Amino acid sequence: MSGLYARESRSVSKMAHLRFFPQAIVGGSGAYVTGDDGRQLLDFAASWGAASLGHAHPAVREAVNRALSDQAGASYLSAANEACVLLAEKLLSLVPERARGRVWFGHSGSDANETVARMVVAATGRSRIIAFEGAYHGGTVGSMAVSGHPAQQGARSPGLTLVPYPNSYAAGSPDAAKNAALAHIERLFATEVPPEDVAAFFIEPIQSDGGMLVPPDGFLKALEGLCREHGILLVSDEVKVGLGRSGRFNAFEHDGIEPDIVVFGKGLGGGLPISAVVGPEAILNHAVAFSLQTVHGNPVCAAAALAVLRTIERDGLAANAARSGKVLREALERLAPRHPLIGNVRGRGLALGVELIDGHGPAARQTALTVYRAFQLGLVLYYVGVHSNVLEFTPPLTLTESEAHKGVAILDQALADVAAGQVDESLLADFAGW
Ligand SMILES: Cc1ncc(COP(=O)(O)O)c(C=O)c1O
Repeated sequence: MSGLYARESRSVSKMAHLRFFPQAIVGGSGAYVTGDDGRQLLDFAASWGAASLGHAHPAVREAVNRALSDQAGASYLSAANEACVLLAEKLLSLVPERARGRVWFGHSGSDANETVARMVVAATGRSRIIAFEGAYHGGTVGSMAVSGHPAQQGARSPGLTLVPYPNSYAAGSPDAAKNAALAHIERLFATEVPPEDVAAFFIEPIQSDGGMLVPPDGFLKALEGLCREHGILLVSDEVKVGLGRSGRFNAFEHDGIEPDIVVFGKGLGGGLPISAVVGPEAILNHAVAFSLQTVHGNPVCAAAALAVLRTIERDGLAANAARSGKVLREALERLAPRHPLIGNVRGRGLALGVELIDGHGPAARQTALTVYRAFQLGLVLYYVGVHSNVLEFTPPLTLTESEAHKGVAILDQALADVAAGQVDESLLADFAGW
């Protein structure tokens, strides 16, 4: 354990920790972070996707420096600022027509989803919300209230109904998963959840923290049809897999749907805290002073976000995510025949997951050992999933093909070392993960 990591444990609370190994970093550039021991680590997590352009991207650096050198305040609560207006105009151009109304700015996916959850109920007068089992929409009281991830330690909203997310791998086929999930929702609508009471249906176009589950073809389209039929607002939480990561700008585009409300976060600020909700004017302008925190609409963060969006467009980073993601995915698939632990490789673009299983089912212990071993060998990788057994790949959108190959070579070695029993299990004692 490094000196910095040990010092942290004597001064910083653990309440926000989700640690898989004793990593302490002092810098970073592109797809690499620098450990306090001087090691260069290839970063396939990108701070859970927040460092969307990689670390220290020049476009973000310049935008932040410029915004700070003549700072237009620190908030948009009581004064308009140009960066927020430009960013709102840009975001409105990037969503479907039906969502093209107004933009609300927050700090995080959590405050954005919490605001949506309150706003849709207040604006429609309907009291219910539907979301998916395994969904992670945030870590504040109001966003946990509409989430379904078992690792969360918060209460669900009394108006929330959770439904199963279709899992093609577990169900045996995409069609079986799709049909069962749709039948479940239709049954609920016919019985205990009157659809006319439902304000909104929250979706993740790929359920990332729940296990990087890709919806079967046609599922979200059918769900959109049900929402339209019953006047239910469809909310696409693009916080983790949007903004180019899936290989398209919006992840919901793969499914040919048009959500009413789109939520952005994480990578929007390229590493700075900013989130956005984009949706119809009637909902987003429901009331004034409805959801405010002092430095919401911070012009420095908004300037960073504008730089991120312009860079994604200028450098074709959604296309790069598709291209590098294909290389990464194919390399991961080539590992499968040599590693019995690999049950399934899935995802889109640079939002990929590898589910590890053994003879007993989900291989949670081996998953934790694999990410620990990969860290020792120079690769940063975390895991997700309701059974804690899915390796998650959310590298910077700028990832090159050679970086993809390098990371997979490290993972190959890590998996082999775990299978050979060469990784000391006692290392995990301080790393419960989730
Ligand atoms: C899909 C999704 N929505 C919302 C959030 C919450 O974002 P944040 O932790 O930045 O508040 C997350 C975080 O993992 C997420 O994956």
